[in-house]
Formats: sequence, C-alpha cells, structure tokens
Amino acid sequence: MEGAVKTMDFVHRFLPAPQPEGAPTLLLLHGTGGSENDLLSLGQALLPGANLLSPHGKVLEHGMPRFFRRLAEGVFDQEDLRFRTGELADFVAEAAERYGFSAERVIAVGYSNGANIAASLLLRQPERLAGAVLFHPMVPFVPETLPDLRGRGIFIGAGQNDPIVPVANTEELAALFRQAGAEVTLQWQRGGHALTQAEVQAAQTWLKQGRRA
Ligand code: MLT
Repeated sequence: MEGAVKTMDFVHRFLPAPQPEGAPTLLLLHGTGGSENDLLSLGQALLPGANLLSPHGKVLEHGMPRFFRRLAEGVFDQEDLRFRTGELADFVAEAAERYGFSAERVIAVGYSNGANIAASLLLRQPERLAGAVLFHPMVPFVPETLPDLRGRGIFIGAGQNDPIVPVANTEELAALFRQAGAEVTLQWQRGGHALTQAEVQAAQTWLKQGRRA
C-alpha cells in the first residue's frame, strides 16, 4: 500500500517474562550510538518479572543509531520527531499483538535520546504508556495542549552537572508532566550525563513499589 510503513521492520529484541501472563512490558530505548542489546540487562535488573521489548533506533547520525534526527546538540528536527514518535507507537501496538503482551501495561525505560523519544510519546500519545523511567531526558517539545497523564507515574533520573541537559530543562520537563497530571519522581545525582548505579537503584525501588500506573 502506498505510504504504508512497515513498523515491525524495527530491528528489535523481545525477551518474554518468566511468567508472561499479565506481566508488564518494559520498552527499552537506548541512547545515541546504542543498540537494541544495550539496555537488556538494565531492564532485567529494573523489573525482573517484565517482558522486554527493545527496538533499535532507525536514524543514523554519522553511523550512530538514534530514535529521531537532530539539527544540533539539543536542537531537534521536530517534523522527524513527530513522525518517529508515531512510528514507535505503532511498533509497540503491533508488537503487543505479535508477542501477546498487554498494550496497557507498557512502561518506557529510556536513556538520553531514548528518554527523549519516550517523553515525546508521553506528550503525544499518552495512552500508549502506563508509565516511564526516563534517564537524563530533556524537553522534546512543548505541546500546545497538555496531554492527560493522570494516573501515570514518571521517574526522572537527572545529573546536576549534566553537560547536555541543563538543570532548568529537566525541571521544565518535570513541571510539564506534573501539569499534565502525572505523578513525577525526580531523582537528582551529582554526576553528569552518564547513567549512575544510584539512579538505577532508585528507579528499581520506584518500579518495585509499583509507583507506575
Ligand atoms: C538527543 O539528541 O536526544 C539528546 O541531545 C541526547 C543525546 O542523544 O545526546
């Protein structure tokens, strides 16, 4: 069909939960230069009873995979971001049918560029995600109309000395989500953009406490 997008052509990994019946699914979204294999062990550590769905970003920047195009550091190609966000949403829905997991129990876990497309998905198609763990995200765009994020939990891990994401940008993102009705947990670390063990542990505790929807 003309214009049709074969969304299941995302290169991806799917690891079923040990007990798949009713299990939540973690949608693992890697950072720039990463792959579908990067966050599998993180996902297993974060929520051992979950299915893991891990796509490979389709956009290449000097050979480095990403989930959407950027024009410069922190300056996003908004048209591409909108398209890629829709494509990812469709992929998740198709994967739910193909692998038989509940589309209502998908929690995004993203790092950096992966966290940014997860934030875009929350702002554009909030019904696709039950919650999210965002490591070092930034505001992907400011929506004209806020989505309804009531009943959704969002964990944000951020670095006070992150050279890519200014503190004010993280605070703006948390405020956007709160205004949209989400329950936001913002965990600050003294470090930079790298993922720290402390924030992984904090996210693990948050997930185990069922703070997500
Ligand atoms: C992005 O482009 O999504 C952010 O700048 C994070 C990164 O990938 O460096």
